[in-house]
Amino acid sequence: MSKNYFVHTKNTTYAIGVDDNRIVRHLYWGRRICDDMLEIPDIWDSNSNHSDLDNAMTEYTPFGGKMYRNCAFKCRYFDKCRESELCFSRAHQDENELVLVLEDKVYNLEVKLHYVTYDDSDIITRFVELCNRSENEILIEKMMSAEISLPSELPYTIVNTNGSWGAEFQQESTVLKTGSVVFESRKGTTGHTNQPTFIAHQGASEDSGPVYFAALGYSGSFKVEAQRDFKGKTRAIIGVNDFDFSYTLKGGETVFAPKVYLGVSDGFAEMSNKMSKFAVLHILPSGFAKKPLPVLYNSWEATAFDVNTKHQLSLAQKAADLGCELFVMDDGWFGKRNDDRAGLGDWVVNEEKFPNGIDELIEGVNKLGMDFGLWFEPEMVQRDSDLFRAYPDWIYHYPTRENKELRNQLVLNLTKPEVEQYVFDCMDKMLEKHNIRYIKWDMNRPFSESGAENLENAQELWLRHTEAVYRVADRLKEKYPYLQLEACASGGGRADLGALEHFDMVWTSDNTDPLDRLTIQRGFSQLYPVKCMRAWVTDWNNNRRRVSLDFRFLSSMQGSLSLGANLNEYTSDELETAKHYIALYKEIRNTIQFGNLYRLKNEYEHEYWANEYVLGDEAVLFVMTLAGTLDNKHTKNLTLRGLEENSYYSYSLDGKEYTHSGGYLMNKGLDLNLYNPLDSKIIRFKKVD
Ligand code: DGJ
Repeated sequence: MSKNYFVHTKNTTYAIGVDDNRIVRHLYWGRRICDDMLEIPDIWDSNSNHSDLDNAMTEYTPFGGKMYRNCAFKCRYFDKCRESELCFSRAHQDENELVLVLEDKVYNLEVKLHYVTYDDSDIITRFVELCNRSENEILIEKMMSAEISLPSELPYTIVNTNGSWGAEFQQESTVLKTGSVVFESRKGTTGHTNQPTFIAHQGASEDSGPVYFAALGYSGSFKVEAQRDFKGKTRAIIGVNDFDFSYTLKGGETVFAPKVYLGVSDGFAEMSNKMSKFAVLHILPSGFAKKPLPVLYNSWEATAFDVNTKHQLSLAQKAADLGCELFVMDDGWFGKRNDDRAGLGDWVVNEEKFPNGIDELIEGVNKLGMDFGLWFEPEMVQRDSDLFRAYPDWIYHYPTRENKELRNQLVLNLTKPEVEQYVFDCMDKMLEKHNIRYIKWDMNRPFSESGAENLENAQELWLRHTEAVYRVADRLKEKYPYLQLEACASGGGRADLGALEHFDMVWTSDNTDPLDRLTIQRGFSQLYPVKCMRAWVTDWNNNRRRVSLDFRFLSSMQGSLSLGANLNEYTSDELETAKHYIALYKEIRNTIQFGNLYRLKNEYEHEYWANEYVLGDEAVLFVMTLAGTLDNKHTKNLTLRGLEENSYYSYSLDGKEYTHSGGYLMNKGLDLNLYNPLDSKIIRFKKVD
């Protein structure tokens, strides 16, 4: 007897059916509908070459039988059988969770599909639990977090990124007419190229049109694959990359595939705003999720490896005068770290650089009214380090292969409990002894020679390494609840919702060119909260393209404002400008960090950028040009979004005060006088009673 299960959020419904053959079928995903009886379509073998299962929309498809398309699950049983037949066994449903339990027909494997909903959000969290109820081992070769089926038989446009170091989050669209499109990382981290996300639409815009989206909560090697079949059906899988991956599930054991957060929206703005609110409410570590992030100064671009108390304090003095709230000393403070050739692994203060210890600096920074933060790259070691000399086998390696270096460094094998403990201890010791309230956790190279002799099945290391990183971060936060963590991997190589479940924010890119950043920030903001996007004002690229300090600040103020420039070289005018913008940012940061974001214009389609942030009674508009036009045709009639139609808003533009209704601003719009290349403006709108 067939049956329907409904997963409702406030505005959407996800419906699943169990057919007479106990196959779990996908029935519906879209705007909310009531618990109507949804018909489960018959499936049939079109002819001897196209099977029934290939046509069906199944909810979690295993490899096996007459199923030839992409699958979500594959394993190998003790008797060498490599196929699974997962049939519905039972379901549990309460107000906020549906669990469908599938069982293999023969082997005692249970696959539990979880669907979690929230009263305050339209996002559904899916995750998969695999339980080996037998006494024999099962080798899991593929365990995706979700399979996604799209409703229409016409082609979808699939959006992902095609980035690189210094150019992360470069959005690209692919119209998927035939075959598959794969976005992945095989590097051990998320990497800079593709995102562990799925966005599909058919001509949607920022404001309207159904958008189906999902983001994986995982920072290791991942895979997102969308496939369109010969009947026009588009399906996708998202999860841990099955490339070089397997997991031995012993009798009685359970393993979880990482969570995936998914939803459907009307337009891209709604998608971003739903996800961003959800992340604040349900993903980010709770300590700082709802608090605005402090304005920080980071010394990397000013001093690189050449750090010492005097120089850092001179920067700290300037940063404090400008209004910064946190001072972070980056790379170079430990071991024999004078350049990038030595020291990683030796997390003890370099006595030549800090002859009186590091407290002299920390106390100096605290006296200036700022918190102190420190850089670590805990997963790494260098051949020229005491750690490597003592424990050369603590790295991923094969006895027969030479370990290849990248940035002169090697990756520690965090799947060894003693290495995980060492990584925790090195940060713990510094936190115990010193008043450090912020850690920037960097990770500057992908894995290679991925052998782990300590594991019976070394192909588990991809998952186990990432889990170890999360565990260490969680333990630090538990012991030091005031500690803020920033995830960084040569810029934005670990910027994803997995990292953001354990770290409060991420470093989005090493490229701090204010114009390049607008593209990077646009890509990041699609599915991740702008609050978590650290954005430094620096002098990057100023020789190639002179950009005013106003433009630099207005670019960085669209995320979590930070400074990274060499303040000792700022003129007094520049220091005044910086002070002005930091004070302004503090006034508007709640709106930026917690408001709705409307990406009104972008350089590619409209020749200039306009982003609007709205929270309660306030809206903040940033407008930035790339090129200028004498007739100023581009920046005319800029219409806003997200205001109350019948409320009035006051604002000042080019020295004049105005009051207009939300309706006026959203329909007639503003005429902006931005004629020049690389010009910028910020306009604040306040609701009047
Ligand atoms: C890469 C990071 O992205 C930079 O911000 C900086 O921390 C360097 N590493 C330090 O080596």
